[in-house]
Amino acid sequence: MVGATGAIGRRLVQLLVERGHHVVGTTRSPQKIEELRALGVEPAQVDLLDSGAATAAVRRARPEVIVHQATALSGLASRPRFWDQSFALTNRLRVEGTDHLIAAARVAGARRLVAQSFAGWPYAHVSGPIKSEEDPLDPDPVHALRAPLAAIRHLEAAVATADDLEGVILRYGAFYGPGTSLGVGGVHFEQIRRRRLLIIEPGMGVWSFVHIDDAATATAAAIELGARGIYNIVDDDPAPVSEWLPALAAAIGAKPPLRVPRWLGRLVAGEAAVVLMTEARGASNAKAKRVLGWQPSYASWRNGFRQLLTASESGPDTLPRMRRGATLRSSHPHLKRGGTPMEISRYGIVQRPNSLPHISGAVVHGGTVYLRGVTPDPDGDITSQTRQVLERIDTLLAQAGTSKSKLLTAQVWLSDMRLFEAHNAAWNEWVDRENPPVRACVRADLVGPGLLVEIMVTAAR
Ligand SMILES: NC(=O)c1ccc[n+]([C@@H]2O[C@H](COP(=O)([O-])OP(=O)(O)OC[C@H]3O[C@@H](n4cnc5c(N)ncnc54)[C@H](OP(=O)(O)O)[C@@H]3O)[C@@H](O)[C@H]2O)c1
Repeated sequence: MVGATGAIGRRLVQLLVERGHHVVGTTRSPQKIEELRALGVEPAQVDLLDSGAATAAVRRARPEVIVHQATALSGLASRPRFWDQSFALTNRLRVEGTDHLIAAARVAGARRLVAQSFAGWPYAHVSGPIKSEEDPLDPDPVHALRAPLAAIRHLEAAVATADDLEGVILRYGAFYGPGTSLGVGGVHFEQIRRRRLLIIEPGMGVWSFVHIDDAATATAAAIELGARGIYNIVDDDPAPVSEWLPALAAAIGAKPPLRVPRWLGRLVAGEAAVVLMTEARGASNAKAKRVLGWQPSYASWRNGFRQLLTASESGPDTLPRMRRGATLRSSHPHLKRGGTPMEISRYGIVQRPNSLPHISGAVVHGGTVYLRGVTPDPDGDITSQTRQVLERIDTLLAQAGTSKSKLLTAQVWLSDMRLFEAHNAAWNEWVDRENPPVRACVRADLVGPGLLVEIMVTAAR
């Protein structure tokens, strides 16, 4: 699985491991190796754009099935006007990456390749609102969509025409749910919460959605069944932007989205956004249901959106919480197959004389990082001590592969409550205002002389 650490990859590998598959999952990042291991995956550090490295990794893994889930779309939502630039790396992963995997599959004797594509805006914006896999793709996309669509066409054609492989192309609808841009803390979710995602009038572009867990169950079915061809992996309820965007805002307790005319939408959000909001087409899942025997457990985004807040209580990047679906046998996010506890990694263990405790600097359990209580050097006032602690926390979080934007909880101990205000000023300078943790603060006797503050945090990875 190339892209095992991504929005769909993480949920999919867990599902596959539970179903008894041996999964080799790739990441480019050494920090995510342990995370993959904790999910029961054999990690491989690979950049798909390096053809030699990709071939070597596939040779080593000798897979029956290769799954291509590598994309680089997360910058898209925050820079919609620069759609073509934001897509550049994804285009390369779809063109060069797919070619590398097909070549590697041949060398290693793999028999099946399952690759990610997209259902929605790529379909031609003519006639009916709902498209099947046989309907044509847009023959004349606007400039910003030209290269992305060419890359999608390349991926689909390359996979479909690799005769010696069973090529399966999954055209996913827009993802939502934990870990996606439409999960709690995700970029689109936050834009909607802050009324920054506008409806470009008349908002008649039709979108098909798929909950990320349903995308995972469909992909597992395709991996196991391998019926060659293209499948739309979407829910049963394609809907225009003017309907789903206000419903999503209401579901997450946000004010209704603002509406702007087309010309203003083009100016603010760019031509691709205009197409997506006014012309895009939705997709039918009839073929995936018929051939793959797949049923989305969230038949409509209307239900799925309402679950967003509860389903993501544990944060956008924590381990997947899978719902039971038609092709999902059983699942528990904190247990590996066989019921053994998920791996715990400990960093910076300090062995000290008996008057001081033996502790870990950080403990990582699944997707959650727990840091020790962090103290400053015991001189300076509360402002400088707080800043020093927060800098140390930044360093420890970075070493554990996360950052302050993913904090979950913070416990603060002050030696004197009169320091509360000055401490908070330093805290507020530092904390990610959009993503602050839950926090408690109490007065306590701190362990060393001169210490004014100690802070202990947990964070998602
Ligand atoms: N599907 C869509 O069309 C679409 C459209 C708009 C927004 N979104 C949103 O965008 C988000 C997805 O963001 P994303 O595309 O950045 O995906 P992602 O879910 O963050 O995962 C990307 C995956 O691709 C891997 N990858 C990237 N470059 C690679 C390379 N050169 N070689 C090997 N592997 C590579 C990454 O691995 P490592 O980083 O670990 O190496 C990671 O596992 C989701 O939240 C989704 O909701 C999706």
